[in-house]
Amino acid sequence: MKVWIEKINNANSLEELESLRVDTLGKKGVLTKEFAKLKTIPNEEKKAFAQNLNEQKIALNEAIDTKKEVLEKEALNKKLESEIIDVTRFNNELSCASVHPVIDTMDRIITYFQNLNFAVEEGPLVEDDFHNFEALNLPKYHPARDMQDTFYNKDFTVLRTHTSPVQIRTMLSQKPPIRMIAPGTVFRRDFDLTHTPMFHQVEGLVVDSADKISFANLKHVLVEFLQHMFGEVEVRFRPSFFPFTEPSTEVDISCVFCKGDGCRVCSHTGWLEVLGCGVVDPNVFKAVGYENVSGYAFGLGVERFAMLIHNIGDLRSLFESDLKLLGQFK
Ligand code: DAH
Repeated sequence: MKVWIEKINNANSLEELESLRVDTLGKKGVLTKEFAKLKTIPNEEKKAFAQNLNEQKIALNEAIDTKKEVLEKEALNKKLESEIIDVTRFNNELSCASVHPVIDTMDRIITYFQNLNFAVEEGPLVEDDFHNFEALNLPKYHPARDMQDTFYNKDFTVLRTHTSPVQIRTMLSQKPPIRMIAPGTVFRRDFDLTHTPMFHQVEGLVVDSADKISFANLKHVLVEFLQHMFGEVEVRFRPSFFPFTEPSTEVDISCVFCKGDGCRVCSHTGWLEVLGCGVVDPNVFKAVGYENVSGYAFGLGVERFAMLIHNIGDLRSLFESDLKLLGQFK
């Protein structure tokens, strides 16, 4: 039996231990077979023989029980170890969201102008004709209204087509000097590779006494701003038309992709248009009752900035909630 006890002590698993139990104490086990011999043994030897077998049986059972306890404990520990959950562990992958590139770009623009002491103003998304058009020198039936494809509501209000009406609201509720930006959502009936029905703009307006503000101030502020946003770019002011500014210009930067050599993104011109601006038209000041002041204004599309900063080709991809794309902006 010594050999069996040794085998039991060396068993590596509960399965192995169980098969050793069957081999010794099972129906056809070695010890069971020994007990069977009792029948054939002479009566006077029976007692000693049986006693000896019982001692062996007890020894085997004890060895098996002891080993079983050890192996069961080991198995439990292994299981606990493999199922361990460290609730204090922080999972970066799952819980760390990223800021949407449009909001991130908007935040950068806002922070830049806040540092220059511009106030951040807001206005309603549903505007009336006066604030969205009329006061901005866009009278009814003026052909310039066609520049913006407008969503009209039944009650003749509109979804604001630009953030410029916030200029009007701010001037109507405050006295000059004014130094503000108006970031926000705007809406137009347009949908293709470069247009979405909803997008974001940042409007800027500075008003002060007539002798203080000129086109030169506007130019300085915008050149510094654009070089802050896009790095070492050249900036050019190109004559244009907006009803609410006179003179008006559109502003181009040298192409951030080809450095002005000409590529597909800049249509081989070397320049990218990034915003509109100008000196506030006197008719706008008339509409809000401002006198003896001068001012400049600008307006830009945030998605356009985000696309140029992050090299995003299709504007629509910014609104598809594609986590693979958005995850790249951590
Ligand atoms: N409101 C214009 C637009 O949505 C952008 C703009 C151009 C705003 C020139 C201005 C400006 O304040 O001076 O297209």
